[in-house]
Amino acid sequence: MAKMKIGLVGCGNIASDICIAIREKAIPAEVVALNDIDHAKAEALRGEYELNASILTLDETVAAVDYVAECAVASVVPDVLAAAIRHHVDCLIMSVGGLMAQPALLDEARNNRVHVWIPTGAICGIDGIRAAMQAGLDSVTLTTRKPPRGLAGAPYLLERNIDVEHITELVTVFEGSASEAVKAFPANVNVAAALSLAGIGPDNTRVRIVADPTATTNTHEIHATGPFGEMTTIMRNRPSPRNPKSSYMASLSASAEVAAAAALFSARVK
Ligand SMILES: NC(=O)c1ccc[n+]([C@@H]2O[C@H](COP(=O)([O-])OP(=O)(O)OC[C@H]3O[C@@H](n4cnc5c(N)ncnc54)[C@H](O)[C@@H]3O)[C@@H](O)[C@H]2O)c1
Repeated sequence: MAKMKIGLVGCGNIASDICIAIREKAIPAEVVALNDIDHAKAEALRGEYELNASILTLDETVAAVDYVAECAVASVVPDVLAAAIRHHVDCLIMSVGGLMAQPALLDEARNNRVHVWIPTGAICGIDGIRAAMQAGLDSVTLTTRKPPRGLAGAPYLLERNIDVEHITELVTVFEGSASEAVKAFPANVNVAAALSLAGIGPDNTRVRIVADPTATTNTHEIHATGPFGEMTTIMRNRPSPRNPKSSYMASLSASAEVAAAAALFSARVK
């Protein structure tokens, strides 16, 4: 079976989980190129997973592979998309928030038949949102519940001197559009962005953020209405075994996208 050659941009937690999935799930793919702003991180990943991969610039990485997985930072997303278009390579974008300001590059990718894979991340129900969009949606609301310490340090709370760490009952700390939410709570950006891009866009998608002193996990609830009817989904996320700040489901969704892309690649070239 032909193996898909993968390039990883960003060699941290999610890149590690992709390497583990390729090895343990026998995904027909091979990591052959690595790029990281911190050369030592790329070297460490290469050593830990015994990858037969070159450490390259971003452009060289994309030029050397069949598929590039961005798992770095939102600010690098425009460069990854531009390189993917230049070299006609499909890509996975984990820093989904970085796509929100790039509708022109997304259109250009589509026009050049470059497939941009967007992971579902720490939410479920994107399949229903996409299907419902065929007839349009009237409303989409994301309610995120987090333990107060998971919200501490958010720009919105700091600017307003809101102290959530000592609350004793459930407090809704923010309600607004997804566009406003990603500035106010950047840690929530990928979930809000993935939902907005699949549905009615960042200005029309509503976001509610709740600090819950009894919560032990991060919960994302989606409620949507439209001509199709009504949909509610709830995801209660456990932290990643390798990174307590990240939801395990985010890494699992990255691995699922890579597995699907590799299966498609193998079927095309066999
Ligand atoms: N879609 C989702 O649901 C979801 C969930 C979790 C994380 N993420 C996003 O995925 C990305 C990776 O997450 P992670 O947990 O692996 O982070 P991490 O911090 O463990 O790893 C990121 C790596 O990227 C490297 N890096 C930073 N800037 C870079 C640049 N300009 N070019 C190349 N490399 C660069 C860092 O040195 C680091 O090695 C983040 O942007 C994060 O927000 C998305």
